[in-house]
Amino acid sequence: MNQPKRYLITSALPYANGLKHVGHLAGAYIPADIYVRYLKAQKRDVVFVCGSDEHGTAIPIQAKKEGTTPQAIIDKYHVAMEEDFKDLSVDFDIYHRTSSLLHHETAQEFFTKLNDAGELEIKETEQYFDEEANSFLADRFIKGTCPNCKSDRAFGDQCENCGRTLSPDELINPVSTLSGKTPIKKKTSHWYLPLGKHEQFLRDWILKEHKDDWRATVVGQCKGWIDGGLQSRAVTRDLDWGVKVPLADAAGKVLYVWFDAPIGYISATKQWAIDNNKDWKPYWEDKETKLVHFIGKDNIVFHCIIFPIMLKLHGNILPDNVPANEFLNLEGDKMSTSRNWKLEMRDYINDFVKKENGGGQCVDMLRYYLTQIAPETKDSEFMWKGFQDAVNSELVSIFGNFINRTWVLMHKLCGGKVPVLHTDLLDDNDKFLIAEIEKAKTTIEELLEQYKFRDALFEVIELSRKGNQYMQKKEPWIVAKQLATNPDAQKSIDNTMHLCLQLSANLAILINPFLPNTAKTMLGMMKVVDKMLDWENAGKLKLLSVGYSLREPQLLFRKIEDTEIAEQIEKLKAGLKESATAAKENKPQQSKPMIQFDDFAKLELKAGTVTACEKVEKADKLLKLEVDLGTEKRTIVSGIAQHYSAEEMIGKQVVVVTNLAPRKMKGIESQGMILTAEDSDGKLQLLKPENPVSPGSNVS
Ligand code: MF3
Ligand code: ZN
Repeated sequence: MNQPKRYLITSALPYANGLKHVGHLAGAYIPADIYVRYLKAQKRDVVFVCGSDEHGTAIPIQAKKEGTTPQAIIDKYHVAMEEDFKDLSVDFDIYHRTSSLLHHETAQEFFTKLNDAGELEIKETEQYFDEEANSFLADRFIKGTCPNCKSDRAFGDQCENCGRTLSPDELINPVSTLSGKTPIKKKTSHWYLPLGKHEQFLRDWILKEHKDDWRATVVGQCKGWIDGGLQSRAVTRDLDWGVKVPLADAAGKVLYVWFDAPIGYISATKQWAIDNNKDWKPYWEDKETKLVHFIGKDNIVFHCIIFPIMLKLHGNILPDNVPANEFLNLEGDKMSTSRNWKLEMRDYINDFVKKENGGGQCVDMLRYYLTQIAPETKDSEFMWKGFQDAVNSELVSIFGNFINRTWVLMHKLCGGKVPVLHTDLLDDNDKFLIAEIEKAKTTIEELLEQYKFRDALFEVIELSRKGNQYMQKKEPWIVAKQLATNPDAQKSIDNTMHLCLQLSANLAILINPFLPNTAKTMLGMMKVVDKMLDWENAGKLKLLSVGYSLREPQLLFRKIEDTEIAEQIEKLKAGLKESATAAKENKPQQSKPMIQFDDFAKLELKAGTVTACEKVEKADKLLKLEVDLGTEKRTIVSGIAQHYSAEEMIGKQVVVVTNLAPRKMKGIESQGMILTAEDSDGKLQLLKPENPVSPGSNVS
């Protein structure tokens, strides 16, 4: 693609139902901010939009939890999220909100245009309705018993206990969370977007045109959706929170949150244009605009399949790329709000940025680590120890160290002024460094253009590492000892320090998109204006003029102490305990009725050893086991084939329910059942004695 005329860059609109964590930050916000800062340093025409996603059932549910109104919830979190982004130097041109009138009108116009063009279908279905509350029930508003694990903590969309995705119809004994009553089924009609009609377009556009320039993970997920068959998607809901469906016969209906939210990118652009006296249209209608959506992987289908279809039908441009990130785990475990296993942006801001030794450098430390571990190709891991290492052994010891040494020596050996470069005296080390400076710009630029932010950042640090190596070879502090005897000594020192200073100026330009606060501090030390950070200056060697006097060095990064890391890990663990206690107090884990000891005593449990095992034909979940119970051998069929292979089962001990009435499975009589534990992610583990016992041992 030729250089685009303008850019419209978006970050996923976060739900205004709670504070966001560093996983969100690493996924959709920091990468976008880096890219935008790079484009702006290139003087490109670019608008960076974001805002709060304030619709959907998530909002009324949070309101219920906090005992307040949906409006109060969005007002609170909209402000809080905007502040957090600002505190972490994520610099949107506009942070808008989908509850605004402008957005409602924009989304309604969008719907109307598609509907008038006959691109939507109306279908009648039966849905759960709460007669007492006089309202249809969103999936999340129906509770019941999970058909899978029998827990009573299942909702119409998902079981909180086993994690299984559900539809309201699958729930046993459904109950409305609004009234506590059993809902009835009632007919309702909704508008659907027939995705299937656009299959060929999607195949050509994604699987052909963009198969090489989009991330493999993104193309892969899209291919999965397309090959899996594209169903029509309802774009309206029976709900009273959201953008009203703009039709006379649609009372009580709103646009589905995933229909209106991405249109939020457009309404945000409109608001930005109003605020800045600009025209928003070319950003969404002119083919010479490059549109890029930064998101997390759970948003891929909406940004790569559904929204592009909407954009196409509405006559807008399509995204040029959707660099979606995978997920960020925390200290070896999935981040989770319900389990309180997370690091909120706000926590980092309070514990580091707003502390006495915090500020911009702590913002940049987090930005650095999150970019270095960015989950660009696969899930990655935030480890506090990793954060400490990244800061102490890279930012402090390599980058910070180079800049600091340069400034200290320049003051000591060159009187605090930029020394002359004696071009006739350049040696191989000097020439090598000059070549590296010139090369770095191109390399980093190419990586940024391909959204490879972690590699690009690595190259910046590499360049500062080369600066250290160069200084180590040139040893100006040793050369300084020959000043009295060697007439060329000062010239050699001048050359070394001149090049180190020009390299420092280059490093400020190159680090700026990633660590803007650091770049600013460096500008201060160089006593130069922002303009020096223009990208076109990178790779040049005359950024600081000879004779110009520079300021004293400033510490760019402080060290992260062991105690700080230990405190954070303690905090994380304490949060986990807290949420576990809360869960016990508020929501009992027990999902079956209480029994007496006699009931339990009816079970006969024995330990046995697996002596033979094979897969059951035409059943991918079943293994057929032969279990030695001391006095007898039993055949048992068990649904563990996706967790254990037949070979690895042989010789293992298991716990067997031996007085369970025999059952036929796939034609084989199973004479008992073996016990397993199922993790929240669905992984099964055998229950077995801690140390081997003789087959037939009683279990109680
Ligand atoms: N609120 C959604 C989420 O957090 C993202 C919405 S992105 C948009 O997953 F495109 F719809 F705006
Ligand atoms: Zn369940």
